[in-house]
Amino acid sequence: MFRAGARPPEPDSPPRAAAAEALPPGGSVLDVGCGGGAAALALVPPAGELTGVDPSAELLEAFAADAAAAGVAHSEVCGSWPAVAGQVPPADVVVCAHVAYNVADIEPFLVALGDHARRRVVLELTTRHPLCATAPLWRRFWGIERPSGPTADDLIAVLGELGVDAEVARGSRPSRRDRTDPAQVAMVRRQLCLPAEREPEVAVALAGLPDQPVETVAAWWDPARPD
Ligand SMILES: C[S@@+](CC[C@H](N)C(=O)[O-])C[C@H]1O[C@@H](n2cnc3c(N)ncnc32)[C@H](O)[C@@H]1O
Repeated sequence: MFRAGARPPEPDSPPRAAAAEALPPGGSVLDVGCGGGAAALALVPPAGELTGVDPSAELLEAFAADAAAAGVAHSEVCGSWPAVAGQVPPADVVVCAHVAYNVADIEPFLVALGDHARRRVVLELTTRHPLCATAPLWRRFWGIERPSGPTADDLIAVLGELGVDAEVARGSRPSRRDRTDPAQVAMVRRQLCLPAEREPEVAVALAGLPDQPVETVAAWWDPARPD
């Protein structure tokens, strides 16, 4: 699901535009939590050099294969940010798409992003934690109310506390998720802590959720240049 090819290109999306604006021709991009590398690969060109960081060796292999196919120089670092940040050289632009909600200790994560950007850091995330969308399923299967956050505004507030006055662009796009895809149904069933035999019920419940557009937020800032 996180292969770059699974995401249609969005050349005019605010996060891509913010990153491209700061990139010199042939410049370098560090993609933290790259998955299949959709955010970095969307920047080729003008980017001429990509580094992907992710704890998933399998996704890094996909990233490397797609970067090679795009004819761009690439390197990969397997591990969690910021634990592996010391092994990663700075880049002109650091991108981090749809990762922040996975990060419990967000402050050192954000500081290390800034420490690795010569020109700009661009974060991309949904307005709310993606799992908020399945709150009705928790209610239905377990009678449990799930939280309605965290939100992108929480992250922007954290940046403010770190002294970062980020520029912010808000947008909206159709959901990319095919809720009838068996892989999607299986993932949601596992997230709901239900056994495999409940999958047909999950499929029905998932298909019944309203097909709402996804609200997105891009936040970017230009940190002081690292030496
Ligand atoms: C939702 S996927 C997004 C992948 C890709 N950035 C994209 O937009 O298609 C989140 C990715 O972040 C990675 N990830 C989660 N926590 C991370 C961390 N602390 N450091 C680096 N990568 C992380 C996961 O392994 C996964 O590949």
